Parts: sequence; C-alpha cells; structure tokens
Amino acid sequence: MCGIIGYIGEQTAADIILSGLQKLEYRGYDSAGVAIASDGKIERRRCEGKLVKLANLLRDQPLCGTTGIGHTRWATHGRPTEFNAHPHIDCTGALSVVHNGIIENYLKLKQDLIAGGHEFRSQTDTEALAHLIEEEMKIDNDVEKALSRALKKVDGAYAIGVIHKDSPDILLAARKSSPLILGIGDGENFIASDVPAILPYTRSIIYLEDEEIAIISRDKAVVKNLDGETIEKKIEHIEWNPVLAEKGGFPHFMLKEIFEQPQVIRNTIGGRTDEESAKIYLEELGLSVEEAQKLSAIYIVACGTAYYAGMVGKYMLEKLARVHVDVDLASEFRYRAPMVDANTLVIVISQSGETADTLAALREAKSLGAKVIGIVNVKGSSIAREVDGALYIHAGPEIGVASTKAYVAMLIALLLLSLQFGRMRGLVSVPEARRLIHLLKELPRNIETVLSEAADMNWIADRFCECSDFLYLGRGINFPTAMEGSLKLKEISYIHAEAYAAGEMKHGPIALIDRRMPVVAIATKSDTYDKMLSNVQEVIAREGMVIALATTGDEQIKEYTQNVIYVPETEEILSPIINVVPLQLLAYKIAINRGSDVDQPRNLAKSVTVE
Ligand code: M6R
Repeated sequence: MCGIIGYIGEQTAADIILSGLQKLEYRGYDSAGVAIASDGKIERRRCEGKLVKLANLLRDQPLCGTTGIGHTRWATHGRPTEFNAHPHIDCTGALSVVHNGIIENYLKLKQDLIAGGHEFRSQTDTEALAHLIEEEMKIDNDVEKALSRALKKVDGAYAIGVIHKDSPDILLAARKSSPLILGIGDGENFIASDVPAILPYTRSIIYLEDEEIAIISRDKAVVKNLDGETIEKKIEHIEWNPVLAEKGGFPHFMLKEIFEQPQVIRNTIGGRTDEESAKIYLEELGLSVEEAQKLSAIYIVACGTAYYAGMVGKYMLEKLARVHVDVDLASEFRYRAPMVDANTLVIVISQSGETADTLAALREAKSLGAKVIGIVNVKGSSIAREVDGALYIHAGPEIGVASTKAYVAMLIALLLLSLQFGRMRGLVSVPEARRLIHLLKELPRNIETVLSEAADMNWIADRFCECSDFLYLGRGINFPTAMEGSLKLKEISYIHAEAYAAGEMKHGPIALIDRRMPVVAIATKSDTYDKMLSNVQEVIAREGMVIALATTGDEQIKEYTQNVIYVPETEEILSPIINVVPLQLLAYKIAINRGSDVDQPRNLAKSVTVE
C-alpha cells in the first residue's frame, strides 16, 4: 500500500530515490513522484501510472539536489491522477510530504484548514498533512516541532517523509501503524517502507516504532517521541543478500520465486529438526510443554494466501496435536467477539508482517489475554515485533505481488509447529515424528521434480487460457490448496475462479458446469481419492472439462481426462506443499498467455497496510 523512500547524503537524491522506488513498486503502482529540496526551493516530478513514466520524466527534466523524498502509490483517497500523486506540498510549496497509510480524520482537518485559508489541490488525505504542518509552523517556524504538533492532531495510520526548502540538510520521518525503516549509511542516510529499497546502500537499519519521529541528517539520525524526548534506538543488521531482491535471469519475480521454493523449504526447516532424535527446535516461540498441554483452542488469523496457509494449518494441528483450531480472516476476527482467553493460543500468519487487518487482530487477541505467536517472513516487521514469539519462515524477499514461496514456507512452519505440539502433548510418537521429519526433508526434491516438468503443462495453459471462468475442487487438507490455486489465477490472469470443497459441488456449484467450464480437480492420492474421482465423473457427465492434479503413476485418472498434471507421491498431510506448485505455474502460464503483468497485477499491492 504505497511505498515511500527518502535520501539525504552527497549523491544525486533523485537517482537513489528512483532506484529505491523500483524496489518498492510492488507496494503500489498507480502513480509515482519525487520531490527534492535544493537551492531554497522544493521541486517535484510526478506522473500517473507506473514508475517507468517517472523515470522518463526525470530523464527529460532531471532534478539536482541531495535531499529528497519519493513515493509510489496505491490509491485510497482520490483517483490515480498526477494531481493526486505524491509528494504533496503546502500552500506555498515550502514543504513536501510523502505518506503511506490513511489519515482517518482528514475531512475534518481539511475543512478546518480550508476555513483557515489553505488551498487544496488534490483529493488525497495526505495533502491535509502538508497544510497541517504549514499551519503549525506559523507558531515557531520550526518544522520538527510543527510536525510533532501536527501528528498529535492526526487519527489513522502514517509512514511519512517530509522535506522543507529552508532545511535541505534534514529529512524528517514519522510512523504510526505503517512500516518505516531508517537506513544508516556512511555520510548518507535513508528512510524506506521496506528493506529492499535501501539494501544496495546499507544493511544497517533502525526500525521506527509508532509515534516516533526521526530527524535525519547526512551524519546522524535522531529519534524522538511526539513530545520531543530523544529515544535510544538499536541499529539492526540485515542479512539479506541484495541479489535475492533481483530477478536473477527469470522474466518475472513470480517465476523466480516459484523456482526458489525447494531452497526456501530447506531454509525454513533449517536447523529446526533432528531426525534421529525426532526433536523439533522452536525455542523462539517460548512455548512450554505445560502451555502446550493445557491449550484449550488455537485461533489462526491471517489474510489472503496466509489465510489459506492457516486453513491447511488447521488440518495439520488438529491431526497431529488434537487441539481445536479455528481459522479466521483477520478482517473479521476482531469484529465478532472471539472466544479468546489466557488458555487460547492465537497464531497470526503474515508474509509482510505489516498487513493492517492482521496487526489489528493481533492487538485485539493480546488485549483479550491470549498468547500470540506469529509466522512471519519479514524480520523486524510490525507483526514480528508485537507477537509474543515469532517463527520466521526465512523465505527471503518476496517481490511478486502474488504470494508463492512464502505460502509453502508458511506450510512448513505450520507442520513443524504441529509436530512439536503433537510431541509435547504426547500424541506423536518418536518413530512417527522421525518418519514425518524424513518426509519433510524430501519435499525440496519432490518440488524440484515438479519444476523440472513445468514445461509439460504449457499445452494445458494454452488450451484453457481463453476461458472466462474456472472452478477449483479439493477435499480435506487440499481444499485450501484449491482456494489458493484459484486465488493465484484470479490475481494475475483476471479470470473469474472459484474454489469449493469437492463434496459441496453437488449443493450448488454443479449448476455452473457446462462445456465451457474448466474444473481443476486436486485428485492426488489421499483418503478421499475415490470420492474425488466421483466428483470428477460428475463434472464429466455434465460436459465440464477437467484438469486433474494426480499422483505420478495414477493411470486411472486418464480414463476421465487427458488433462493431467502429475506430482510425486507424498504423505497426505504434506501433499498441499507439493500440490500448490503446479497450480502456481498454471496460473502463471495462463496469465502470461493473456499478456498480464504478473508481478504487478492491476488494483493489487503487496503489502496491505490499510484496514
Ligand atoms: O503479507 P501478508 O501475508 O499478511 O499478506 C496477506 C495478503 O494480503 C496476501 O497473501 C495477498 O492475498 C496476496 N496477494 C496473495 O497472493
């Protein structure tokens, strides 16, 4: 949901800002802009549309100066026009602001500011901030103090960068409920919404907390609270390799990330298992055997793909740890009086660690007395810092807007957790745990097999890419796989796709089936394989077209359809981790055939930091 970046140093700020925005474009790509403070004035360049237009504009009309801010937008308030593009300015153009978040009381602020003589040029909530700071500067002409006072009047979420024409030697930043980091360089400093934007320049990071302001010059960054008191901050070191945030020869980040999945699984498992002793090491969660034994229920709370991972987690936890699990959409959880108390464990799952709905649900669960643990990818993210224990999935930066590698890493983390709970609650024997750990370690090779056969499904993608609707069917632990597969297709190909538990088909969706409706049936070996075959036959009987996902060696399925994608056999509880991979590839290939921008699909943003 919008990416912001700021630079102060000795280099040409616009160049650094533009390259950083390229790394942040996954957060929004409706418009982009840069503002530079130099020679006693603020100069801006802004464009509707993707960053490439801003890059062209900057080539034709370059900006000099070594202090600046930039923004790539995912529109919330106001259409994605140049007028609404950030950075925004105050009445005189003395100061400029970039913002990620939503100023919830902006209408009231705007009315008051207009009544006080301020002139607005955009429909955005952000512009109110620029005028509010301008108004507060009338008191003492001190931009830092004016910013603090202004922020005390603001409700909502913000990560902001501010520059002022009369103070080109400082860059101001602040955050509340939207991510913002400071990058500490040598004679230069940065602000950014996310780490990849500044990785080429520094790996020393300060995480800003809510209601903190940073006053940044070339040589230092001072952090204060809104009352002006200095706060000591720790500088963290980021281990990510900048190359991980590049495409590495693949045409798209999404494809690269799909192909990274075997290695990602190895990373997620890392040193967390010992096959011989059947031990699982998840000390970072701080869960005791006693806590595991007295658990009355688990709630898994997440959004989108992470929610589907949570649905798979329910099957894993209920099977291995015999504890009741509810899975909730984060946007619903806190509005429905959840039955959460001190004996309930809440697990929040998030790739970005910044999803506003998930963060709000986490806070709600904590306020109800629950212990909250997080399954998170981005280190130091808001969710990772607020949970009682964070289980990092180590998927590395995921840039493609459609989540792929983070999903399989989440499933691995959930399986490790289920196994550990099963052991702690005395429900999984040592030989059984040893067997599952062994199978878990075979998954990367299984997925390598699927990836090596990726080209085999090109003809299926070619055959079905013009269809306007798809139905995905799965059963049991692969019902969420069907949901995740259909989400991938919708997100990047814009084809309408629905997923159903296959047993539900006869209760309604079967009415949709005709000769134009492809049905993706997840029919790998499982306890419900025969029932799935019956569902396949029900589709065929109504002239529907079936694309079957089947286990290598299954010839029976060929009696019903020739559109078969084979995957290596594994234990049913692990099968979602393999089965999702061909569905990701199918969605990718169909989207490419249709000419979609798979890494930046329309209307989406990677990190949804508004509720
Ligand atoms: O960063 P998170 O895992 O919290 O994000 C949750 C969803 O916004 C995300 O999974 C979204 O649904 C993706 N576009 C799915 O591909």
